[in-house]
Amino acid sequence: MASNRTFTMIKPDAVENGYAGAILNEIIEAGFSVKALKFTQLSRVQAQSFYGVHKERPFFGDLVEFMISGPIYAAILEKDQAVADFRTLIGATNPKEAKEGTIRNKYAQSIDANAIHGSDSDENAAVEGSFFFSQLEII
Ligand code: CMP
Repeated sequence: MASNRTFTMIKPDAVENGYAGAILNEIIEAGFSVKALKFTQLSRVQAQSFYGVHKERPFFGDLVEFMISGPIYAAILEKDQAVADFRTLIGATNPKEAKEGTIRNKYAQSIDANAIHGSDSDENAAVEGSFFFSQLEII
């Protein structure tokens, strides 16, 4: 059965550009409820670990440097079909390919500075949420 939770990060570019409030508002307006929320900045070791699945990819180094370049918001979100619906809301990984009206289409600049992360599966949503939040921090 599909889980109703997903995990997101509002990335350093969106925070730096002042879009975090507008993005959080869009997420809530789209029907997601916030079950955990944290404003933090990843260390290099933490970013390497979070994105460990990509460590052999050519973009890994740039991705890690970008993700530690400034603070982020991390959140666990709830909605029916959360993983799929959230990926629809944020649009394609590359903002140049993101459909009009999606969060990446409106707020992102490049494939690295792509404003927001969304889990790609129920399994990864659970792993990624646990990376940032203890049970005590999740509603
Ligand atoms: P995210 O959804 O956070 O997951 C991995 C990130 O790697 C992705 O968003 C992009 O910001 C970044 N990235 C950079 N280059 C690529 C690429 N060629 N394919 C996929 N992801 C990439």
